[in-house]
Amino acid sequence: MKILLTGGAGFIATHTCVELMEAGHEAVIVDNYVNSQPEAVRRVEEIVGRPVKTYEADVCDKDAMNRIFDENEFDAVIHFAGLKAVGESVSIPLRYYRNNLDSTLTLCEVMAAHGCKRLVFSSSATVYGVPDEVPLREDMFCKGCTNPYGWTKYMIEKILMSVVTADPSWSVVLLRYFNPIGAHASGRIGEDPTGIPNNLMPYITKVAAGQLEKLTVMGNDYHTHDGTGVRDYIHVVDLAKGHVKACDYAAAHQGCEIINLGTGVGYSVLDIVHAFNKANGLNIPYVIGPRRPGDVDACFADPRKAKELLGWEATKTLEDMCRDSWNWQRNNPKGYHS
Ligand code: UFG
Repeated sequence: MKILLTGGAGFIATHTCVELMEAGHEAVIVDNYVNSQPEAVRRVEEIVGRPVKTYEADVCDKDAMNRIFDENEFDAVIHFAGLKAVGESVSIPLRYYRNNLDSTLTLCEVMAAHGCKRLVFSSSATVYGVPDEVPLREDMFCKGCTNPYGWTKYMIEKILMSVVTADPSWSVVLLRYFNPIGAHASGRIGEDPTGIPNNLMPYITKVAAGQLEKLTVMGNDYHTHDGTGVRDYIHVVDLAKGHVKACDYAAAHQGCEIINLGTGVGYSVLDIVHAFNKANGLNIPYVIGPRRPGDVDACFADPRKAKELLGWEATKTLEDMCRDSWNWQRNNPKGYHS
């Protein structure tokens, strides 16, 4: 299939691009590089050994998107593009709503006008809000999100469900990601956050690299086995392979499906620190600090639907995730600017 990846230069998208091309698909990227680097695409080309057709454009720019669709006949689109910093979304909510919703509306209009009706969307476990129980199943009622970023994911899911209701010949897969970490085994592509990382694993790897002094464990009074927050960490390469399966599924079915992409196993912050130390022979200094507002005790997936519908399940271990995260950081101390 020929597949367009919006936001194709980002962390999850670049790994997906590699897996799609290695599975024999043709991937085309559109990215405005607002939060990514052209170098990431160059590295993908290096890994797969062939060029990747790339457009520099904003998905909100309808004329540009129409031109891209005029020039290519896409079988499917994976919509990764979007602003994704939880804290920033609280300070500049309008930018988040405008960008994430506008880009999706524009994309769907352009797709419909070109007769391309297969869409895989990057959603997030954040749409479950504060869960009443774990593991999280796709049919659970979502009570509401804790930040504007999460609401944009929630609203986009609703928009896409309405599109399918109005025209059941669409095929939409809403992928709810849990916590992607790790990096490609080559150490050539990985997560490259700007500034001080908000997320746990990039923070740990920057401490390991000596770029940050110590980790602050945000709260040790949660209702979990050791008091620190529990999450479902998934290797980004496993996640990427889930997208390939989702594209195959979308090609063979119509309608809309929500699918969790997680491992089904929850690890605490301290579990991650200990696993990282063990996998890499390091000793990450940390202190216990206060809770981060909006964080929940535990969040992990029921991954059975992905296995039933897509024939996909995560295979990489926590050790793989810790080793590959550090391998990327160690080889690229300044990310794509190294
Ligand atoms: N944590 C720390 N110290 C840090 C950073 C994080 O202790 O410096 C803790 C958090 O309190 C939490 C855990 O590590 O318990 C994971 O935090 P992350 O920020 O890595 O991930 P979140 O689960 O908060 O959020 C992630 C993505 C969101 C997405 C959400 C889906 O960042 O985009 O998963 O559940 F919406």
